[in-house]
Amino acid sequence: MSTRTRVSSLLPDFPWDTIASAKAKAAAHPGGIVDLSVGTPVDPVDPLIRTALNAASAVPGYPATHGTPELRAAVVDALKRRFGITGLDAAAVLPVIGTKELIAGLPRLLGLGAADLVVIPEVAYPTYEVGALLAGAQIVRADGLTQLGPRTPALLYVNSPANPTGRVLGVEHLRKVVEFARERDVIVASDECYLGLTWEGRAVSILDPEVSGGDHTNLLAVHSLSKTSNLASYRAGFVAGDPALVAELLEVRKHSGLMVPYPIQSAMTAALGDDTHEAQQRERYRARRDVLRKALEAAGFRVDHSEAGLYLWSTRGEACRTTLDWLADRGILAAPGDFYGPAGAEHVRIALTATDERIAAAVERLN
Ligand SMILES: Cc1ncc(COP(=O)(O)O)c(C=O)c1O
Repeated sequence: MSTRTRVSSLLPDFPWDTIASAKAKAAAHPGGIVDLSVGTPVDPVDPLIRTALNAASAVPGYPATHGTPELRAAVVDALKRRFGITGLDAAAVLPVIGTKELIAGLPRLLGLGAADLVVIPEVAYPTYEVGALLAGAQIVRADGLTQLGPRTPALLYVNSPANPTGRVLGVEHLRKVVEFARERDVIVASDECYLGLTWEGRAVSILDPEVSGGDHTNLLAVHSLSKTSNLASYRAGFVAGDPALVAELLEVRKHSGLMVPYPIQSAMTAALGDDTHEAQQRERYRARRDVLRKALEAAGFRVDHSEAGLYLWSTRGEACRTTLDWLADRGILAAPGDFYGPAGAEHVRIALTATDERIAAAVERLN
């Protein structure tokens, strides 16, 4: 008899199934559901990006796993222009098929196994845990280095601005993470999905010279185009940082056929070369955030963190499933905080990714 282990048995239950009844209740609202449970973009892809996609659609050959030189140059330029990241070589940039794909595979691609420890934030995007489980690695949830004691992790995730909390880590905090990584030879994967969506204060990349001192050794910055350029449907992201780590990821990904389709690479190049559509999208979210936040606070919610990113991390000081039901009675669907770790048990994550019309409906119902 085969002794094979079903890989799915290693993974948590798919949590979205547990909010089916709240979803059904919200959907029964006479004004229709306002679904603020997922962070999926709703505004159309900019024509500039679609033109680039179309123009590349007749190319028949295999794309380069490393990405075209134009794409990698566009990444280097965009990171410098948008976030002040300097000293990045185009060779140390690698496109990925959406960053969820990279994150789910990263521990395995880096050769981690049962003896290795992966550190993820206390409340975290669930795929960090999934990637570690797929590699058979150990996991600890910690927001501070002191929580780790004498243990040296192989891989440490930071996510600033964070999903689901919208928390931003300051330069000092990130600098300490980099120092720790250097002292103990730890790989830091910094998920910077929401870096371009900061509302209050300043969010910085792990590769920022103020944080890294210009040395990218052991550092990987993970960037998605899903949210800032509305490209979730295209599956478009990249990883950049330590040239040796990126070269290793490239080598393994080449063998595995993990390449971004050529027309998508062209679309990414166009998106990264243009800041106007990105700024417009940011302003759409800013306006939605302003009205929704006010309405939540007026309805008795407390909004924690949420200085950046696409979510309002909100609480009524009760179990998150109770809040979920309260919202569902008003036709609004949120994501329960317990999806993201035990520390999220009294929060709900309310996404800004709905049309102006649906956000206005939510505001009216909260009043
Ligand atoms: C923190 C974080 N990282 C990564 C992703 C994955 O984005 P994508 O696979 O679309 O690049 C998401 C998506 O919601 C996210 O919230």
